[in-house]
Amino acid sequence: MPQKRDFISLLDWSSEELLNNLEFASELKQKTLEGRCPKELEGRSYGMIFHKDSLRTRVSCEVAIFQLGGHVLTMSEKEFQMGKRESVKDVAKVLSRYLDGILIRTFSHEVVLELSEHADVPVCNLLTDFNHPCQLMADALTIREKFGRLENTSVCYLGDCNNVTNSWLNLATRLPLDLRISTSPETMPPAHLVDQVRDAGLSQLNIYHEAAEAVRDAEVLYTDVWASMGEKEKLKEREQMLFGFQINQKLLELTNPNSLVMHCLPANRDREITAEVMDGSRSIVYDQAENRLHAQKAILAQLERWRN
Ligand code: CP
Ligand code: NVA
Repeated sequence: MPQKRDFISLLDWSSEELLNNLEFASELKQKTLEGRCPKELEGRSYGMIFHKDSLRTRVSCEVAIFQLGGHVLTMSEKEFQMGKRESVKDVAKVLSRYLDGILIRTFSHEVVLELSEHADVPVCNLLTDFNHPCQLMADALTIREKFGRLENTSVCYLGDCNNVTNSWLNLATRLPLDLRISTSPETMPPAHLVDQVRDAGLSQLNIYHEAAEAVRDAEVLYTDVWASMGEKEKLKEREQMLFGFQINQKLLELTNPNSLVMHCLPANRDREITAEVMDGSRSIVYDQAENRLHAQKAILAQLERWRN
């Protein structure tokens, strides 16, 4: 009986598995655009749990499963109350008797790990306070499409170090990148994730406390909100710390003239990125959003292939 595999962190998969999955996502995208998406999930049912808001993740997951021929149900926190009405273990065990996979977006990363420990079906992490691996697969797919390669792309992440930044560090642990992080001394990424990148020895990683130097020659400028879901009360102090890390026209002029701008969305226009840049010709934010769909299909189809 094959062991179930999960996708809770990019580090759950090897470098080769991640690269193969990006190739698979490209194939699925092409086939979908030609109207012949393979029905890899035919007869399979998935359950999604959302403890935080979502637009892209929720809609792209539903459509991904539909396009792959599967069935999905979204369970609301009100009826569910995992860990309150019943234990995470009991929820995992019961859902595993009905479903072929559990997709979850929640606050605590530990809850997702606990769910995975007890679930007999694959668990896919749709974002926790700690990371956002599905987003990074869509981002990597988008970079491959735009630059014709992912390896050694210079990516400058600007702003608050959060779940998305943590996943960038995980990607740099598995695949060679020139990753620059430009943030304030108060909003640094966790030291152990930085150490993991350096220990893996595949990527160049540099951390800057100002933006102009960090963006020099960068091919991608990337940002995310300054206060993530669950920490909106920190926004005022973050604005004080991070105003120098906004992606704006002036900053774009200091970088590679062919550089492209990414944001996982939702964005706060004119806070971490100006509306002018977001709507400008170098912004690829909607291509990123579109690729959430195709990257998600590849992740779920691969998890299912590993069960067989
Ligand atoms: N990028 C992203 O995960 O968007 P949602 O929060 O809308 O799902
Ligand atoms: N860092 C953001 C990402 C949203 C997709 C958040 O967690 O709110």
